[in-house]
Amino acid sequence: MIDADTDNVQVSTENGVMHIVLNRPERKNALSLAMYKKLGDSIRAASEDRQVRVILISGEGGSFTSGNDLGDFAKHKGTLSPEENPTPKFMSALLGCDKPVVAAVQGPAVGIGTTMLLHCDLVYADTSAYFQLPFAKLGLAPEFASSVVLPYLVGHQHAAELLYFSDRFSAERARELGIVNEVFAEDKLMASVRERCEQLTKMPASGLRATKQLLKQDIRERAQDVMEREQVHFKKGLQSPEFAEAVAAFSEKREPDFSKFD
Ligand code: COA
Repeated sequence: MIDADTDNVQVSTENGVMHIVLNRPERKNALSLAMYKKLGDSIRAASEDRQVRVILISGEGGSFTSGNDLGDFAKHKGTLSPEENPTPKFMSALLGCDKPVVAAVQGPAVGIGTTMLLHCDLVYADTSAYFQLPFAKLGLAPEFASSVVLPYLVGHQHAAELLYFSDRFSAERARELGIVNEVFAEDKLMASVRERCEQLTKMPASGLRATKQLLKQDIRERAQDVMEREQVHFKKGLQSPEFAEAVAAFSEKREPDFSKFD
């Protein structure tokens, strides 16, 4: 059983805004299982708490998140049962959440760090932010319905470019593509995002709820099906020699060599 008792995610609620802060700066806020558990628990709690009208997610120490903890991936290799695994539970809570979810992005938003933004409602970034969907490069496949939400947002060709090449892209490029709403100077991001959150807390909650339900309905209906399909590929990838090579190369700070694999 995963324990959600971690300081690596900090949660506070003030004036109708639940602020969730990813706080593991020494690992660029890489997400551990305990962090996923706390994220999922917090979003579920926010959904049920009448005091919470908006959820804001940000990262501490100049990073949003470098994605899933690669050490955890290498250790579990996709073998956790659905009951044990807090990651899909977090993503289901995010996908199903009927309150506005706002993200403030600084520095890296990699892997699930970008994937989760596709399921938020409003994404603001500063000029330090960069995004990356490195699944193919790691021998993995996209997950959590990103294989349908990404092309839905940016179109097939752009989605293919981002996913095949697995390259980083800037905040400005993310804004052009429609993944980010607005890009701010580094010293303006948090104040600007707080202002927008405050604006939302003053709106009729019922109007926002109905609007979000309608905006998300189509994607929610397809998501479960798609996620099951994606998981087959993702688990296979986690157990592949290509993924083992990519993780070894990352920890040894060298370029991976995929030439020996078909
Ligand atoms: N899992 C575990 N540890 C991670 C991590 C991750 N996803 N991302 C970063 N770290 C660790 C690094 O190993 C490093 O540890 P060290 O100080 O012991 O060497 C520390 O966090 C700082 O990261 P570093 O790589 O030095 O920072 P950077 O600014 O040069 O690069 C990233 C930032 C995000 C581009 C780079 O860390 C990276 O590519 N991380 C992996 C991203 C990834 O593949 N995520 C999984 C996607 S499925």
